[in-house]
Amino acid sequence: MALKILLVDKDEDWLFSAKEYFEAQLYHTTLVSNGKDAQVALYNQKYFAVVMNVKVERHPGIQVLKFIKSNYPTQKVIMITEVNEQDDEEDQMTPEKLKKMGATEAIAKPFEFEDLKGLLEGHQSVGDMVSSVPRRKELGPEEEVDMGDDKFTGVKIDEFYTSQAVLFDIYIKLKSNRYIKILHAGDTFSKERLDKYKNEKNVEFLYFEKKDLFKYVKFNNYFAKKVIGNEKVGGAKKVKMLQNVAEKFLEQTFQEGMKPQIIDQGKEIAENVYELVKESGDLFQVFKDYADFDPNAYTHAYLVTLFSTSIIKQFEWQSKTTIECTALACMFHDIGKMKMDPTVAQMKLEEMNDEQLLEYKRHPEYGLELIDGNPLINNSVKQIILQHHEHFDGTGFPFNKKGSKILMLSNIVCLADNFVHIIQDEDLKPVEALKVLLSRRDQLTWYNSQIVECLIKVFVDPQKIMKDNNVLPSNSRMVPNKKVS
Ligand SMILES: [Fe+2]
Ligand SMILES: [Fe+2]
Repeated sequence: MALKILLVDKDEDWLFSAKEYFEAQLYHTTLVSNGKDAQVALYNQKYFAVVMNVKVERHPGIQVLKFIKSNYPTQKVIMITEVNEQDDEEDQMTPEKLKKMGATEAIAKPFEFEDLKGLLEGHQSVGDMVSSVPRRKELGPEEEVDMGDDKFTGVKIDEFYTSQAVLFDIYIKLKSNRYIKILHAGDTFSKERLDKYKNEKNVEFLYFEKKDLFKYVKFNNYFAKKVIGNEKVGGAKKVKMLQNVAEKFLEQTFQEGMKPQIIDQGKEIAENVYELVKESGDLFQVFKDYADFDPNAYTHAYLVTLFSTSIIKQFEWQSKTTIECTALACMFHDIGKMKMDPTVAQMKLEEMNDEQLLEYKRHPEYGLELIDGNPLINNSVKQIILQHHEHFDGTGFPFNKKGSKILMLSNIVCLADNFVHIIQDEDLKPVEALKVLLSRRDQLTWYNSQIVECLIKVFVDPQKIMKDNNVLPSNSRMVPNKKVS
């Protein structure tokens, strides 16, 4: 069953182009040009969402919005506004004002239909997504498509999960810039078929279009949530699964920027990360099993998320909120690199000249600039990002903050960040990387010693602590080599 949307605008040309666009995306649309007809339509029919221009007449958009809020309080309403530079600020109907008045989302013209679709789908549940794909009885033909590598993103075939019907088109890659569509949205992907591609055709990766990243992340996040709650599934598998989602999520963020629906997904992932570290009583075991760290640009942020939250879990004062906040901050900690000169952003620190180094040291502030005005991201998240390179001994950047002037959570992210750099740069397993980190004594003053202790605790079997209370060093100068297996 396709999702129905009600489009309300007095501009008929716009209505018809919107209809054409959304029907091609498999939505059903109803078009009306005034507020009164909108109310009648809502009375007769249930809609997945109402998309309404605030400037409609007979009844005015604001009045209809109020009507919907009092009669159908759960109805999703996306308001369209036209912000006119000449108008007084007071008179402007900004998206922020409309959201305060109860709109689920609001967007100012001009925008692309894609943006509107993003808002709509940001509010789709996985159930909505699954029910909106057309079911097909027979498999569609395989067809070669004329699209380049930059349009696609891949997932290892073993790590590909689907609902009964695939939510978007799936491709295999023949060679550079040549893809074959093997499944259309709505086709069923059976285990036998997957196995055939894997075993007979030696397919290692499946591809989908980057425009479908949102659906992929949403579905896999939902799926991961179920798996994380399942005791029978091993910790390492859960970590890996969440990694896939987080990587694709970050790919999407770097491509599209910090849109509201993307931040919502980040929060869902942060919640899953929380559930994961909460459920795993044996984090040490998880990291021991989880040796498969393929270094990829997007893995970094995920690993920082995982280790920061694992450290926090060792503290008495930990809570769901601190863990989720930090998880979100970790995923975005290097978002400021988007604003850096891309060639500098790719360089290693030791290759940079003074000027480039200065530019690099601005990335925490750039990060803050990107999210500063964003009401969806709270202040602790912003501060963690801004301070993630400050050192406890005052040698960090950008403000050379020292000691208790630095947020504890930022200092945790700083340690996790450097720890993950050792894992990735030197291609080490986490336990080995811990030894390297602890052996660099001159750098241990960068962190509050309690934090270093907590990182060590992540890798120690809790049973060992019970047996031998001295297993943890009383300060971070000790190197418990023999005690960390
Ligand atoms: Fe950074
Ligand atoms: Fe980093």
